[in-house]
Amino acid sequence: MAGLRAKTLIFVLVAALATLDHTFVEADFIKNMIVTWGQDHIGMTGDNLKLVLDQSAGSAIRSKVAHLFGSVEMFLKLVPGDSAGTVVAYYLSSTGTAHDEIDFEFLGNATGEPYTIHTNLYVQGKGNREQQFRPWFNPTTGFHNYTIHWNPSEIVWFVDGTPIRVFRNYEKEGIAYPNKQGMKVFASLWNADDWATQGGRVKTNWTLAPFVAEGRRYRARACLWQGSVSIKQCADPTVPSNWWTSPSFSQLTTLQLTKMQKIRDGFMIYDYCKDTNRFGGVMPPECSKQQF
Ligand SMILES: *[C@@H]1O[C@H](CO)[C@@H](O)[C@H](O)[C@H]1NC(C)=O
Ligand SMILES: *[C@@H]1O[C@H](CO)[C@@H](O)[C@H](O)[C@H]1NC(C)=O
Ligand SMILES: *[C@@H]1O[C@H](CO)[C@@H](O)[C@H](O)[C@H]1NC(C)=O
Repeated sequence: MAGLRAKTLIFVLVAALATLDHTFVEADFIKNMIVTWGQDHIGMTGDNLKLVLDQSAGSAIRSKVAHLFGSVEMFLKLVPGDSAGTVVAYYLSSTGTAHDEIDFEFLGNATGEPYTIHTNLYVQGKGNREQQFRPWFNPTTGFHNYTIHWNPSEIVWFVDGTPIRVFRNYEKEGIAYPNKQGMKVFASLWNADDWATQGGRVKTNWTLAPFVAEGRRYRARACLWQGSVSIKQCADPTVPSNWWTSPSFSQLTTLQLTKMQKIRDGFMIYDYCKDTNRFGGVMPPECSKQQF
């Protein structure tokens, strides 16, 4: 009897731990991230991240754990002044040759010229899905909330709570969707003056180095990926349950959709779905589907 009770107790403990595994990660850079590049070019405290770039190196961090689905937030303050040639990248990515990736990238510019908010998506190694926006605020004077929301039916890129882009799951119609590989969260600051600013014409002015971008409030309300994941166990009390499990589209409210349309009308500067020259007239199949 005692043996049976002990076994039951162990079973209950294991079940409880398994549930804990899937609770969301609290905001803390040190606890959740490791440095992958430029150890001496990174400042990390619990809620504060400093990414530094100079001629000797840039800097990069990534999350310790991988997630499959979730809402990943980071507040960022970009390199001020002459940021030409510099790029801050903040993205989710899996590993391997057929990797999945969901990107935010911020392309710097000469003093007084606007940043570019660049978004992209790779599914099973295939990207070429860029959409770019002008920020409608100054991204260098304060922290702004960049959130990637990724669930089984859609991916939404948010800036300060406003959705700017949606990629829906049209897997049933033969369009690949990232839902099989866990992704880690990455943030970095690097030199890309061969292409980033005005097509590579404006170079990084190294006399202004070090360049610094800052992060705050990293929070992944997301399912932990350990080779598999049970979506039901990812329910986060602060996220409506249909975000995780609903097979239907349009989980954004009418108000959110209206706001997104305004941003896209006023601030979108590039859309791969409109770039007919690039694809020789054979547009990616999702371009002819309802996007949001
Ligand atoms: C950041 O934006 C996301 C998406 O709109 C939102 O869910 C989240 O609450 C925001 N975070 C904070 C700390 O305001
Ligand atoms: C930089 O500013 C120029 C001129 O306003 C603009 O054409 C360009 O798109 C901006 N962004 C980048 C990344 O070059
Ligand atoms: C680079 O920055 C220095 C210091 O502000 C400035 O004097 C110089 O004109 C800049 N060079 C370019 C090419 O903008």
